[in-house]
Amino acid sequence: MKLISGTANNDLAKSIADVLDIPLTSVEIERFRDQEIFVRINENVRGEDIFLIQPTSAPANDHLMELLILIDALVRASAQRITAVVPYFGYARQDRKTGGRTPISAKLVANLISKAGAHRVLTVDLHAGQIQGFFDIPTDNLFGQPVFITDIREQFSKKDRSKLLFVSPDTGGVVRTRAIAKQFDADIAIVDKRRPKAGESEVMNIIGDVAGRNCILYDDIIDSGGTLCNAAKALKDHGANTVSAYITHGVLSDPAVERITKSELTEVVITDTIMQPQKVKDCDKIRECSTAKLLGEAIRRIANDESVSKLFG
Ligand code: R5P
Repeated sequence: MKLISGTANNDLAKSIADVLDIPLTSVEIERFRDQEIFVRINENVRGEDIFLIQPTSAPANDHLMELLILIDALVRASAQRITAVVPYFGYARQDRKTGGRTPISAKLVANLISKAGAHRVLTVDLHAGQIQGFFDIPTDNLFGQPVFITDIREQFSKKDRSKLLFVSPDTGGVVRTRAIAKQFDADIAIVDKRRPKAGESEVMNIIGDVAGRNCILYDDIIDSGGTLCNAAKALKDHGANTVSAYITHGVLSDPAVERITKSELTEVVITDTIMQPQKVKDCDKIRECSTAKLLGEAIRRIANDESVSKLFG
């Protein structure tokens, strides 16, 4: 087995390599003067089982293209099997036609990855479960939930946990929220969110009784932070005791950090599926939990033809 990292999230790749106790294979990734990407794998990979780690986070197009070019290099170097480890699968929010003459970009990206020559995909918390079916190659969609469950148990005392209420920031996230609430035997509430236009969100109603509760907003993506910060304000206005958030993918486009800093949220916990800039690392209200153990164990199981679903009980 060999582990290779693109440039999108070297920190996570190194942590996965530490978990598996194998070094990252040396690769050169450079730019021509016109910004085209050049890659060279510096070690023999003939007949190897390759795990190529590259989330398609911002700049999404560059990271995606780099992933495809690395896959092409591996195919041409006679790797036996290539697993694209894409901890954050970008373009996932365009997963259906939202109007006439619009694309389904999630399907297009899935096609690109398999046509480039990947044999398998390993990812975390796809925006919608059915995107798994967009790939015509085996795709393992890991749940970030166990990472968060451990953290919530550490952060909330037994007494505080009795007041926990898991909140879905929109109707699309109800199934995901119900699943984590079940682990704590806790109730859920739902925020009725509307998007008057792309990139803007408005809270219409809160479904459920949030007064006096320690609310945890649970979602797969925080992008501009509008959804989360508006939801936190509405929960506080309805008498919530505390509001924090657990979000798998910290996309955190501007002005997310500023919004979080000024918001009613006590803390936003994200994972390391996306490598964060210093500005995020410096924000006191944002904390990161690592998915390296989860991904490392899944990689080990895939390499040994063991069950991946057993990871989730
Ligand atoms: C929407 O379906 C997603 O789960 C997130 O709620 C959304 O992408 C967050 O976007 P923003 O942070 O820009 O409001």
